[in-house]
Amino acid sequence: MRKLKYYIETFGCQMNDHDSLAIASMLEDAGYAKAPRPAEADLILVNTCTIRDKADQKAYSQIGRWRLLKKEKPEVIIGVGGCMAQSDGRGVLSRVPFVDFVFGTQNMHNILQMADEVRQKRLRPVWTAMPGDPAAMEALYSHAKADGIKAFITVMQGCDNYCSYCIVPYVRGRELSRPSAEIVAEARKLAEGGVREVTLLGQNVNSYGQKGGDGADFAELIRKVGEVEGILRIRFTTSHPKDLTDRLIDIFASEPKAMPHIHLPVQSGSDAILRAMNRKYDRAHYLGLIAKLRAARPDIAITTDFIVGFPGESDADFEETLSLMREVVFDNCFSFKFSPRRGTKASSMEGVVAEKVKEERLARLQDLQLGHTTAKSLAEIGQKRVVLVEGSSKAGGGQLSGRTPQNRIVNFRGDAALLGREVEVKITAAWPNSLAGEL
Ligand code: SAH
Ligand code: SF4
Ligand code: F3S
Repeated sequence: MRKLKYYIETFGCQMNDHDSLAIASMLEDAGYAKAPRPAEADLILVNTCTIRDKADQKAYSQIGRWRLLKKEKPEVIIGVGGCMAQSDGRGVLSRVPFVDFVFGTQNMHNILQMADEVRQKRLRPVWTAMPGDPAAMEALYSHAKADGIKAFITVMQGCDNYCSYCIVPYVRGRELSRPSAEIVAEARKLAEGGVREVTLLGQNVNSYGQKGGDGADFAELIRKVGEVEGILRIRFTTSHPKDLTDRLIDIFASEPKAMPHIHLPVQSGSDAILRAMNRKYDRAHYLGLIAKLRAARPDIAITTDFIVGFPGESDADFEETLSLMREVVFDNCFSFKFSPRRGTKASSMEGVVAEKVKEERLARLQDLQLGHTTAKSLAEIGQKRVVLVEGSSKAGGGQLSGRTPQNRIVNFRGDAALLGREVEVKITAAWPNSLAGEL
């Protein structure tokens, strides 16, 4: 019998990337094979994001591209899932009449069942309940398997922080941690499959273990994963400044497998804006954390996120953001124009900032950051860095590619047999987003 084929398109954050990998693996465990193109698939899925308005538009335009395909091959089943699907629910079916089913963020483990309902009962199921069921998480992630040198492990779902601009708590539901025993077992399975670096994922990994889990906090979890044979490197994201404890900062000094890089989103340098954002820390607290991190691990790379044009952000508030950037000098950042999201507090706040002002602020911020990113990258020249070899370089020419402990990409000449090994590389050239070196 011909194997059924699936095709998955993914938008959004690393958590979505990882969920899609787990879905793919779940489908393969059920006998499906990966289709190289959507036209060859029997089941097409899109895992969506809704963090900003643009993300919604991207998802709908992607689904729109399958209109013709569905017309020519009506038996293909199209499922829309993830955060945008969670938010729009049944609305997806009315907006796109050829979509067959909608799966929410806590229903990914039910995709096969939903596809069966479409095939056998001609139904158009919409499953968007968010029961916060730990068994549902395990049902999905138990399929996770090694695929290369690096892997993600989701350690928790949801978020309870309700930053006033953010839709995530509404579309991912309540914070819930997985038991550390399950996470360690997954790390062990991945290591046996050849994985050497794991990134522990959650919206706010610093509060790991506070809701759900099995008593371990995040620092303990990192130590337990560090005991897994074969795992050489541990990274994690995202950290929230309000929950970054001294205990966790100490991990960077005391756990050799914890890599010296932290993504610590600050969002704004203005106390008034941070308060309106409900971030629950102020500028001074954030700067204090940076000082502690650098004391614990002088070579630590620090990256962040910014939102510009939050309601009420004045020129003076924005200058505070730039001054914070000059004070910290981040290795890199992601920066976004504020986008009002349905149901969030900030979407109805006064003091809306004009689009043109948002654009000007974003350009100034990105300009400043590019200078910092370039300077930090150039400072790598002449350094010797331990690089985990991940694969052949995208640049081709028999080059290998890997990352430094600080998570910078390095391309260098070397034998493909070094794949999965840590090697020492001397940095010889630098660009803002990559380095070149010699073994
Ligand atoms: N849980 C993580 C990140 C969540 S989303 C954290 O708390 O940091 C990633 C980034 O998207 C956020 O850090 C923020 O900078 C940005 N973001 C979230 N909602 C947004 C919105 N409504 N408009 C613009 N940017 C937003
Ligand atoms: Fe959104 Fe804030 Fe939760 Fe991050 S911590 S996911 S920004 S609500
Ligand atoms: Fe997007 Fe959902 Fe991630 S909204 S950023 S895919 S948690």
